[in-house]
Amino acid sequence: MAKRTHYCGEIGEPLVGHEVCLCGWTQTIRDHGGVIFLDLRDRSGVVQIVCNPEVSDDVHRAGESLRSEYVIAVRGAVRIRSEDTVNPALPTGTVEVLATWLEILNRSDTPPFSLDEDDVSDAVRLKYRYLDIRRPAMMRNLLFRHKVNETIRGFLNERGFVEVETPILTRSTPEGARDFLVPSRLNPGTFYALPQSPQLFKQLLMAAGLDRYYQIVRCFRDEDLRADRQPEFTQLDLELSFIDESDIMDVIETLLVRLFRETLGREIKTPFPRISYDEAMLKYGTDCPDTRFGLELTDVSHLFRETGVNVFRKAIAEGGIVKAINVKQGHELSRKELDELTQLAGRFGAKGMAWIKVEGSEWLSPIVKFFSKEEKSGLREAVEMEDGDLVLFGADHAKVVNDSLSQVRLAVGERMGLIDSDRLNFLWITEFPLLKYDANDQRYVAVHHPFTAPILEDLDLLEENPERVRSRAYDVVLNGIEIGGGSIRIHDCELQERMFEALSISREEAHKKFSFLLEAFRYGAPPHGGIALGLDRLVMLMLGGKTIREVIAFPKTQRGACLVTSAPAEVEVMQLTELGLRLEVSQKKK
Ligand code: AMO
Ligand code: AMP
Repeated sequence: MAKRTHYCGEIGEPLVGHEVCLCGWTQTIRDHGGVIFLDLRDRSGVVQIVCNPEVSDDVHRAGESLRSEYVIAVRGAVRIRSEDTVNPALPTGTVEVLATWLEILNRSDTPPFSLDEDDVSDAVRLKYRYLDIRRPAMMRNLLFRHKVNETIRGFLNERGFVEVETPILTRSTPEGARDFLVPSRLNPGTFYALPQSPQLFKQLLMAAGLDRYYQIVRCFRDEDLRADRQPEFTQLDLELSFIDESDIMDVIETLLVRLFRETLGREIKTPFPRISYDEAMLKYGTDCPDTRFGLELTDVSHLFRETGVNVFRKAIAEGGIVKAINVKQGHELSRKELDELTQLAGRFGAKGMAWIKVEGSEWLSPIVKFFSKEEKSGLREAVEMEDGDLVLFGADHAKVVNDSLSQVRLAVGERMGLIDSDRLNFLWITEFPLLKYDANDQRYVAVHHPFTAPILEDLDLLEENPERVRSRAYDVVLNGIEIGGGSIRIHDCELQERMFEALSISREEAHKKFSFLLEAFRYGAPPHGGIALGLDRLVMLMLGGKTIREVIAFPKTQRGACLVTSAPAEVEVMQLTELGLRLEVSQKKK
């Protein structure tokens, strides 16, 4: 076989007159009465090959037997295309290769879908992923992701970070999702858990004195899947010693500046704005707000404690809140759209969504007759109501109001075209609560994980008023998507014990689960902290994609299946027996 000299995408005018040898797949074949034109594709792009019988009969004959996706090697000289055959859509569109030799290296069955078609079903694309990846869009995504990894590694290596691999067969980690379990054959009845993150190992590496760790690492979480969630996903995981929050934010900001500059040629502004969790919840109703547009939420509960509007008064009396969004040019929203927004709020638990339309001095609203004069003027001032405005209301427990109105805010932003898709709005969210009450378990649980340090000035509240203790955790958000999170950790055994107590984790339980970490902390653990970026999400956002599946070579479906290998799959009874397992559900049952 002839040796390849270039990739198809590299063929251009500087090579005119040169002899090249290319290898790749035949994308399209056009027979123009005697002369055959091929589009030859490899991972770098496409170039036109000309098989002219006047140049070589053998080449022309081979050309005639080609079909889609045949693998060929071809040799010939690069030449300029005649003006009428230039293809401006192709980067190589001004040149072509006049073949003097062509060898078919392999044939292909007719592919199950045409590789230049756009609307192929996801199921087919995932089943024949190796064909899907041949398509320029997917190929570009994977090559881009490689470039991202390369840039990240270069940046961190320069700054003294050390890449260390941590175990995949391990114990349950405290990230709070459900674990994937792997039975142990050598120790029947026991299980490894796949790591939800390398959290505990990276902290051990700090105790070990490694100082600056990183890893591009697979994490496993058995959660319900969404567009930005996969059961296995990749983190850029970092941990550093002798640092505080600002050092970590600085590393991440500088890294992202470099990454966007080198891979996309885009400049991003630093420092990123920082807002507290409380402020984010107040203004946006979510801890990962999209700040590319306004439409902030306003808490108007104080105006309506004694109101005649029943749904408002009742919600407040029951410990809830009333929030409003002034949609401004709300007359652009039709009654039907308003109903759809109400339905959307309903999906997040809201029992209704009251509204007011301002028309001149008139308020049009199903609830307008119940407002007192003071309530009206208070409201007008609180949400700056003007002629033409539409104001939407949620009244319920804080969680329902925030969940539903944050979604309504996004939907209105999209519908009214307020979101500039070119913008990159990074944001740090800080001062998360340390604990939250879990009504099912009837105890407090860690919002981040149990090793997250509290803000020291709040520590006195830990026993009396645990929900008011803030933590030293931070998230980084890009355009409304959480792309990373981390914290400064507890490195002091006594404080850690107090934290376990607050979490109602008994000493025995803590030791059973985390003794290795607690023990390590007794031998001189340095102050440390870290962060993990969701790499799939970051790459998706950099490429302007809608789902992380587009940036993962072999992703899972919504139901957690790998359509290439048909995993998960049944196993032989023998395999189960060896593991000391017996199935409760009949294997035959689907
Ligand atoms: P956290 O749980 O916040 O932190 O995860 C870090 C980031 O990983 C991404 N991510 C996911 N991406 C795709 N699919 C998923 N199922 C998924 N789950 C999370 C998110 C998230 O921000 N050990 C801590 C980090 C630390 O404290 O240093 C951790 O794992 O972008
Ligand atoms: P009702 O009294 O149920 O007819 O509701 C009057 C108006 O209040 C309607 O526009 C409802 O959509 C709205 N509404 C009902 N419940 C709520 C709620 N919990 N929060 C906000 N608006 C509500």
